Amino acid sequence: MNRILVTGGAGFIGSNFIIYMLKKYNDIFIVNLDAITYSGNLKNLKSVENDERYVFVKGDIRDKELINNLFKQYDFNQVVNFAAESHVDRSITGPDIFVETNILGTSTLLNCAKEAWEKEDDSWPENVRFLQVSTDEVYGSLGPDGFFTEDTPLDPHSPYSASKTGADLLVKAYFDTYKMPINITRCSNNYGPYQFPEKLIPLVINNCLNHRDLPIYGDGLQVRDWLYVDDHCKAIDMILMSAKVGETYNIGGHNERTNLQIVNTIIDYIQKNEDETVGSHLIKHVEDRKGHDRRYGIDPTKIKDDLGWYPETSFEEGIIKTIRWYLDNKEWMEDIVSGDYVKYYEEQYKGR
Ligand code: NAD
Ligand code: DAU
Repeated sequence: MNRILVTGGAGFIGSNFIIYMLKKYNDIFIVNLDAITYSGNLKNLKSVENDERYVFVKGDIRDKELINNLFKQYDFNQVVNFAAESHVDRSITGPDIFVETNILGTSTLLNCAKEAWEKEDDSWPENVRFLQVSTDEVYGSLGPDGFFTEDTPLDPHSPYSASKTGADLLVKAYFDTYKMPINITRCSNNYGPYQFPEKLIPLVINNCLNHRDLPIYGDGLQVRDWLYVDDHCKAIDMILMSAKVGETYNIGGHNERTNLQIVNTIIDYIQKNEDETVGSHLIKHVEDRKGHDRRYGIDPTKIKDDLGWYPETSFEEGIIKTIRWYLDNKEWMEDIVSGDYVKYYEEQYKGR
């Protein structure tokens, strides 16, 4: 049975991953270590909170003593590190916490896993794996042509992507130096349920519903390569279970759209299905993001060839499913906007 330490499992992708794994495997045990920062929300995990195969622990990935104790208590054979400060705009106004969480936190986790797993003769057990969830932003920005491959030189531009690059390279160094069994994933922009409404898609949905301006940075012609979150979870699962040790994988499904295309798709759906007064008059071009990457585009050939991964959800299907989810779960968004989601944790997990 795999015993997995998932960090940052109360965030957007981490919570979708935990739900995905518990649904797919009977024989599995997951500990979710999450500090519950502003973007961590235990309501995302309501459907599994009483599952015997799942335990939540509130804690920080920089807390060495706590993590060493968790390794002793649960004897993990896999670690999936999602925990991070994840928002580019926040990294521009306050970079320090990005270095602390994303680099120092990853370093602490690596050291704890090494201490728990490495044998006296410097070899490693067959079944252990440390999977670092990195990002395509480590590659920097593309011009109008070409795609990021795993061999594209790393060239991050924001404090967020620079801190993720530091973590990514640290994980690689533990493979190069100690032969630690690691994998690194570099995925493109995810979308789907439970994404914190500071990110483009949930922010625009929420603002449409409240007839607020839809802020478009600069000309809105920047391009992102969108992937439905379950397809990212599927890729992480496949890499964790069957990838060769030490390999890095790009994850993406060739779904490039400009930001304006995304915003107009959301406006159209909401106008037709929810509120006919919503329209493009809400779009407001605002000052561009500093150091704004122009285009991301993933070449996923390696993960397709090595592991047979392919995205199951087309963008057309996924975006409608996603908008529908936010329209059908308005209380989730209201809870976040009001700050009540924090109280849920305090009530549910008091004294644990
Ligand atoms: P998120 O902000 O929604 O979730 C981050 C989670 O980490 C939260 O639950 C938060 O409480 C937790 N956390 C933060 N600091 C912590 C700490 N010190 N100790 C323990 N927990 C802590 O982010 P997300 O969008 O779900 O991204 C998850 C991971 O995937 C990140 O590493 C991010 O870089 C990476 N990623 C995200 C995307 C995307 O499109 N969202 C794409 C590629 C890679
Ligand atoms: O590519 C993967 C990355 O995708 C992840 O590593 C990050 O954690 C994740 O946040 C995401 O980064 P982006 O910066 O691409 O996502 P964001 O939703 O913040 O912005 C998407 C695009 O939309 C980007 O070009 C900036 C633009 N934007 C964003 C916001 C919030 C706007 O034009 N207006 C907005 O209000």
